[in-house]
Amino acid sequence: MEADYWKSRWLRGETGWHRDEVMPLLLRHWPSLHAKPGSEVLVPLSGKTLDMPWLAAQGQRVLGIELSERAIKSFFLEQELSDVVSDTPDGPLHRANDIAILEADAFEVSETTLSGIRHVYDRAALIALPPELRQRYVDTLYARLPAGTNAVLITLEYPQHEKDGPPFSVSEDEVYSLFSRVWDVALLERRDILQQQPSFVADGVSALQTAVYRLDKR
Ligand SMILES: C[S@@+](CC[C@H](N)C(=O)[O-])C[C@H]1O[C@@H](n2cnc3c(N)ncnc32)[C@H](O)[C@@H]1O
Repeated sequence: MEADYWKSRWLRGETGWHRDEVMPLLLRHWPSLHAKPGSEVLVPLSGKTLDMPWLAAQGQRVLGIELSERAIKSFFLEQELSDVVSDTPDGPLHRANDIAILEADAFEVSETTLSGIRHVYDRAALIALPPELRQRYVDTLYARLPAGTNAVLITLEYPQHEKDGPPFSVSEDEVYSLFSRVWDVALLERRDILQQQPSFVADGVSALQTAVYRLDKR
């Protein structure tokens, strides 16, 4: 999954992952992180998710990371916010009020940029990456986050041989194997969602679950 793959999906408007409402699992599980007002939340591989303005409305400062300039421009336009763009060593930073989106490859973002992060919201990010990139994602972006960071991670699980990703199936075993060396991992919720995902049914997928984890960096 190269940068060009995602950029061209944005240019072609093929963004089926985007939701027109805030993710209910975020509403349910965010309070368990006990985020303090003003603390900074990382939203990796952010797209133009409406979860960012929701997090800002809870009093958080939001840092999205997104490759596609088109996605970032669409976000600020649709939110009726005018972004101010500044150059940073990691790439252009688009900011309006408490939401900033860094136009960059998440694998390349520096520890300095991430030094103020206290929380992460990872939806359709880890699972957007093929198996060979998932370990690299954890060994770069997650590894550069400060100790004490906590996160809500949302995954999907389905028989991978029945459909190609993205989104990819990421099992509970894999989540533990990716994170548990450095992060405490706790499963918060698991539920069947096949009937709410007609595109998976149409593709012949026989089972689909979503799982939500809390991660705490030691
Ligand atoms: C499946 S979408 C999910 C977007 C968002 N998390 C949501 O819930 O709507 C994945 C997004 O990650 C972006 N992306 C993919 N690889 C990336 C990378 N290495 N660095 C930054 N953004 C990336 C894509 O452009 C795309 O917008």
